[in-house]
Amino acid sequence: MKEYIINGGKSLSGSIKIGGAKNVALKAIVAACLTNEEVILNNVPVISDVYYMLEMVQHFGGQVIQDGNTVKIKVETIVNTKLPLETAAKMRASSLFFAPFIIRNGNAEIPNPGGDRIGARRIDMHIDGLIKLGVDINYRNDGYFYATGNDLRGAQYRFNKNTHTGTEQMILASVMATGDTILENCAQEPEIDELIELLNMMGANIKRVQNRTIKIVGVKNLHGTSYTIKSDRNEAVTFAVMSALLGGKIWLRDADTEHLASFIEKFKQAGGDLETNSNDDLRFYIKDKILPVDIQTAIYPGFMTDWQGPWCMLMTQAEGESVIHETIYEDRFQYVGELKKMGAKIELFNPEVANPVDFYNFNYDDCTPETKHAIRITGKTDLNNAVLMMHDLRAGATIVLATLMAKGESVIYGIDQIERGYEKFDERLKSLGADIKYINE
Ligand code: EPU
Repeated sequence: MKEYIINGGKSLSGSIKIGGAKNVALKAIVAACLTNEEVILNNVPVISDVYYMLEMVQHFGGQVIQDGNTVKIKVETIVNTKLPLETAAKMRASSLFFAPFIIRNGNAEIPNPGGDRIGARRIDMHIDGLIKLGVDINYRNDGYFYATGNDLRGAQYRFNKNTHTGTEQMILASVMATGDTILENCAQEPEIDELIELLNMMGANIKRVQNRTIKIVGVKNLHGTSYTIKSDRNEAVTFAVMSALLGGKIWLRDADTEHLASFIEKFKQAGGDLETNSNDDLRFYIKDKILPVDIQTAIYPGFMTDWQGPWCMLMTQAEGESVIHETIYEDRFQYVGELKKMGAKIELFNPEVANPVDFYNFNYDDCTPETKHAIRITGKTDLNNAVLMMHDLRAGATIVLATLMAKGESVIYGIDQIERGYEKFDERLKSLGADIKYINE
């Protein structure tokens, strides 16, 4: 059983390097499997989600050399197009292996993907899109999608809602199709642009031709390359809020403000500010006091769903009431019960929405009356120490943040969740002066 023991209530200071983006690394690994030449990926975070993806690559015959944050992948031939159920089902990104398997071997057996338990997270649009490209797919009740396709043809496909990995699925699958593919109503998340950049460096021909439209001109072959993954905007927000709440003295190295605009806007409204030093490091701090500010999560360039947990922590320290309305996932408030144990005043509710089916990005039919889409936070509350459990990655970071703020000793279970997405989280927190012990026995 793994656990963190955290003695909170101390201010933190120092400098922290923001790692490479998890949600780019996972897709870059899949892209690397589209060629038989070597692809070198730099700035890959050492996290368990990456480890599981690489384990799958080795399972189907790929050669993987991992040296710190550099990963070399060479998949000369794919010898097995069935992903192992247990590993693949843990991760939503595993569903992206449809592309290399179908393109190179003509068939794929892919488990219905899991990932974080943050709602039903269907892949219906991925499947519809793949069918449009000429893939034949059947779902059997053993938990697998069975797909075949020998001659993928470019097509026109319109996503009916924003889907980040769905857009990536279609880009990966159409990159070597015969003819052109036009994807409409595509997601604009910057992680997708990095995937496009990498694939183009491998010889693909992919362009965002207009807002939310991507054109892929199929090419015959892709080749090896070397690509450096940019920094993770979720990790940046986690450390930005940590700095703001714990003394304002943490410098973030390699954080990219470009994709943090919607966070920075709200942060400033809430009484926060930031400064840059001569190395372009960022320091987030509170000017005077934290003010209550409502947020509604949104697709890019809006306030990202992954940032709402840290935002909730900030709002527990604001005088007055604030609301977080989650519109991307139907069920992403798993951390609320844990924060309540620590004394936070948070109420779950469903706001009045005129046309929820269209308004929400998730599939509204997946909701039950118990599923709540918003929280109302009343501050300011001092948090007390507690014994806690993390249920998903971002909720995990939120809970760690809460225990760092609370005076006294807290114990957190479910550390596997944080290890999915934050490299050496405990060691990095220690370097900032946190009193944190990692127990693994
Ligand atoms: N959806 C469908 N059908 C589909 C595809 C999506 O109903 O075919 C729904 C989902 O159920 C969800 C919503 O649409 O409610 C958004 O899904 P989307 O496909 O946009 O996102 P995702 O693939 O589930 C990725 C990241 C998430 C990040 C979101 C938003 C990866 C592996 N995951 O998720 O990251 O929150 O985009 O940018 O890239 C995380 O890192 O902890 C994480 C959850």
